[in-house]
Parts: sequence; C-alpha cells; structure tokens
Amino acid sequence: MARKRVTSGMRPTGSIHLGNLLGALNNWVRLQEEYDCFYFIVDWHALTTPGGGGAVGYENVGDLTANVHEMAIDWLSAGLDPEKCSIFVQSHVPEVAELHLIFSMITPLGWLERNPTYKDMVQGYKIENPSLGLLGYPTLQAADILAYKGDFVPVGKDQEAHVNMTRDLGQRFNSLFGRNVFPITKALLTEVPKVPGLDGVDKKMSKSSGNYIATNLSAEDTVKKIRTMFTDPVKIRKDDPGHPDGCVVYAFHGIYNKSELEPIRSECEKGTRGCVDCKMQLAEKMNAALEPIREKRAGLEADPNLVREILGAGADKAAAIAKETMREVREVMNIPTRENV
Ligand code: TRP
Repeated sequence: MARKRVTSGMRPTGSIHLGNLLGALNNWVRLQEEYDCFYFIVDWHALTTPGGGGAVGYENVGDLTANVHEMAIDWLSAGLDPEKCSIFVQSHVPEVAELHLIFSMITPLGWLERNPTYKDMVQGYKIENPSLGLLGYPTLQAADILAYKGDFVPVGKDQEAHVNMTRDLGQRFNSLFGRNVFPITKALLTEVPKVPGLDGVDKKMSKSSGNYIATNLSAEDTVKKIRTMFTDPVKIRKDDPGHPDGCVVYAFHGIYNKSELEPIRSECEKGTRGCVDCKMQLAEKMNAALEPIREKRAGLEADPNLVREILGAGADKAAAIAKETMREVREVMNIPTRENV
C-alpha cells in the first residue's frame, strides 16, 4: 500500500531558532520515517510578509535567495534526509502557481476575509492596502499541499485554519467537478514542547520578538544567549530561595536536561543553587545536543553545490507528482489540451 503523504512548508525568514527546531523540524524528521514527505521552502509566501509602515510586503523580504539557501542548510543539518523525503523550493514547481490560479476561481472571498491570520496581519501591521497575494495566502497554501495530494500537514495550532481551508477547497473542487482528485487533508497537531522566549516563561520564542536562540550560533554565542535568560527576579543572591516555575533556565532544563530536573528544582527552592551555575549547567547540555547539528552545518556550508543538488533533486521528484495532479485537474475541468482542442 502506498504511504500516506505529509506536506509542510516554512517561510524563509533568515535563520531558524530553537522554537522552530523543537516545535516543527524534530517532528518532520520523525515523520520522514513513516510517510512520503514533501517539505518546501515557501519563497512565494515570503513575498507576502508585510513590512509595516504601509509597505506592501516584498520590500521587507531581505535577501530571498540567500535566505532560502540558509533554510535548506538549517533543515538538512537538523536531520531531514534527502534519501527519505523531498526537500525543495516552492517556486521550483511552477505547477503550484497554476493550481493556485485554478483554486482562486473557486475560493469564496468571504473565506479569505474571515481568515484569522489575515485579520491579525492587517491589524497587527496596520496595513492600509492589503495585496491580493496576502488575502490569497491560504489559497496558495492549499495549492502547495494539494499539488502533492497531501493527506497530513504537520503544523502549529496557528496554521489550523489554513489547513481546514485547504481541506474545504479540495472537497469543493471534488464536488464541483465530480471526481475525487484531492484527498481529505488533515492537520497533524502534534504535541510539542512549549519553547519559551529568553525573556519569560509566558512568552513564546519567536523571530519577531527577538527573544530567540538561532540554531546557527556557535557554542560560545549560545552560552551568551543563555546568560541573558530571565530568571526569578527575587532570587538575588546565590543562597536566596528561588521559584523555578517562573524561570526560563528551569524551563529549558525541562527540555534539555530532563533527568536532573527534580534535584535542580529542590536545590533552587532551598537556595543551594545559584543562577549562574544553573545556566552553565544548562549550556553544557544544550551545546551537547546542538553539536551534531553544528557539525552537519559546517559540512554543508563548505559545499553549497551539494545543497543545490539536493534542492534540485527534491524539486524534480515533487514536480513529477504536481504535473500529474495538474493533468487530472485540467482534464476534469475540461481545459483544452493541445491535442484535443
Ligand atoms: N503558512 C505556513 C506558515 O506560515 C507556511 C506554509 C506555506 C505551509 N505553505 C504551507 C505550511 C503548506 C504547511 C503546508 O507557517
């Protein structure tokens, strides 16, 4: 029996951080063992990222080509294996743009206008003249997923509405044209550890807040970031009793140093453990976990052509499937071919 398909993408916004690694990539790495996985770097979606100050979007995208290459290195060094999954650049499969155009004919504007992410973007960035591309973001995402007939989409809760819209668009297409071309796509909302920002356990690590540790930092720079982590503000001297529950360092011990969590808590609460030592102990564990990633990264940075070859081969595999999907789509819609027109 054919394996079920998993599809997911990330916007190339520069270096990724521990939140992306623990929240998404580690899960993608696990999924490649069990499913036929398609992982794409969504350079077209990056063009919708608003710049603020009335900017339409693409003004703020930065060096797109460099960011895409960097993201491929991030993914490969985190353990995505091109022998097991297809890793490629969204725009290298132009059939996705064609499917987006087709879907734009059957996407009710109301669905897009009610999309919570769109409303957040427009309000959050005070966008006065939102672009057609920003409004149609979920339609492009649906094309990303359905070009490869994705069964499952591993994403965070914030993307659930987009995946539901993908499912609805696929089903709408099937019923309009009378053939089950597309599967019933489902979000895979996997349990992932909550990754706090450096500035507080109630904050989420995110690029836009600047409270992150990038995965491409050296061991020394990682230590520097750990030193800035928010700790219990009422624990001033080493022997003051502390409150681990509000402490970012403690939260990260829970991710990188699980086996020592209990003694760390009781020592902190008793005032027999200082924050500086506690941070250094975390740094050691975290750097040990990140070391294999750094080694792979160094190899890939030394061989940019290898990265290009991997992306090229991934795009070839993906395009073969997207071409077949588009052939079916045109057929059920009675779009003329050169042969039958
Ligand atoms: N919208 C997703 C995000 O911002 C990125 C994305 C684009 C995506 N296309 C996708 C995710 C297809 C899953 C499937 O995180």
